[in-house]
Amino acid sequence: MTRSVNSWSEARIHDSEGSIHAIRRIAIHFHIMIYTITLNPSIDYTVSVKDLQIGKLNRAESESIRAGGKGLNVSAVLANLGMKSVALGFTAGVIGEAIEKLTLSQGLTTDFIGVEGESRINVKVLGVDGVTEINGGARFDERRIAELKRKLSGLTADDYLVLSGNAPSESVYADLLESVAEFGAKTVVDASGKLLTSCLPYKPFLIKPNLLELLELFDRTEAREDEIFEMAEKLRALGTRNVIVSLGGDGAIMITESGKRLRAPAPKGKPVNTVGAGDSLVAGFIYGYEKSKDYAEALRYGVNVGSATAFSGELATKEEIAKLGEIL
Ligand SMILES: Nc1ncnc2c1ncn2[C@@H]1O[C@H](COP(=O)(O)OP(=O)(O)OP(=O)(O)O)[C@@H](O)[C@H]1O
Ligand SMILES: [Mg+2]
Repeated sequence: MTRSVNSWSEARIHDSEGSIHAIRRIAIHFHIMIYTITLNPSIDYTVSVKDLQIGKLNRAESESIRAGGKGLNVSAVLANLGMKSVALGFTAGVIGEAIEKLTLSQGLTTDFIGVEGESRINVKVLGVDGVTEINGGARFDERRIAELKRKLSGLTADDYLVLSGNAPSESVYADLLESVAEFGAKTVVDASGKLLTSCLPYKPFLIKPNLLELLELFDRTEAREDEIFEMAEKLRALGTRNVIVSLGGDGAIMITESGKRLRAPAPKGKPVNTVGAGDSLVAGFIYGYEKSKDYAEALRYGVNVGSATAFSGELATKEEIAKLGEIL
C-alpha cells in the first residue's frame, strides 16, 4: 500500500495536465476507487485542562493534534481496512499544509485544492465539566467547486463518491451529484437537513442519517422501529437507492433498493468515545459491500466497524474490528 501512495505522489508531481490523470492511473491498479470529499478539513487541537478558568491562563495537561473532517475519517478507516481512497476537498495556507502532512503520514492519498486564506483550527478543551469546543469558520469558496467537479470528471460506475459532513451551502452536494450523474458512480451522502434532502432527486446509492437527523427531517422527536422504517421508505421514494439509519448503541437499520428491511444490532461493549462512529459505519459498509456484494452482510460489517470505533475511542483498526466478529 505504501508503494502505491508513493507512486501516486510522484505521478501527481510530474503531471501538469491536471491531477485527474494521476488519480486514474492509480485507480486502474485497484479496479475501484473511492473518493471522499471533505469541503472544510481542519486541524483538531485537543487539550486537557484540570480546572478550566475563563479569562485566566490555563495550562494544558496533555495535548494532541490530528487532521479532522468526516470525509477524512472515512478515508482513514478505509485505509485501516486496507482499502485505498483519495481524499478530496479544499485546504488553505500553512494550516492546510499541516492537514496535508498529517493525512499523508497516516497513509492516506489526498488531492486537495488549495484556496486563499487559512484552513480552520478546531479547539477542544477537555475539562472536568466536559468538552468545550471552538470551531473555526468555514473557508471553502463556492466559486472553486468547478475545480472539484473537474477532478471528478473521470469517475466510473465502479467508483464511489462519499460526501460527508455539513457544508456552508445547502445545495453544494446536490450540485456535485448532478455533475457526476452521467458517470454512474455509487454516491454516498452523510449529511442532514436540506443538504441531504436536496440530494435525493440525484438518486444517491446510499444516504446515512442517524436517528436524530432522520427525526428532524420529519419534524418529530421520537419514533418506534416500524416508524423509523416508514420514514426511511419515504426517503427512498424520493430517489435514494438505499437508506441506512444509524441508531448509536442500537446498531442500524437499512431499507435496500428492493425495499427489503434489514437490522443489525450493535455488538456488546463499552463506548469510550463515539466521535467518528458514523463515518466508520460508512467506511465499513462500503468495504463490506465490495467484499460481499450483499447488503445484509455489508450492514452488519458497517455496524461492527462503527462500534469498534465507539469502543476503542479511536477510528477503528482491523484488530479492533476483528474482536467484534469475523473479518470479511
Ligand atoms: N454507544 C454505542 N455502542 C455501540 N456502538 C455504537 C455506539 N454509538 C455508536 N455506535 C456504532 O456506530 C454506528 C454509528 O453511530 P451513530 O448512530 O452514533 O452515528 P452518527 O451519529 O452519525 O455518528 P457521527 O458522530 O460519526 O456523525 C452505530 O450504528 C453503531 O454501530
Ligand atoms: Mg453522523
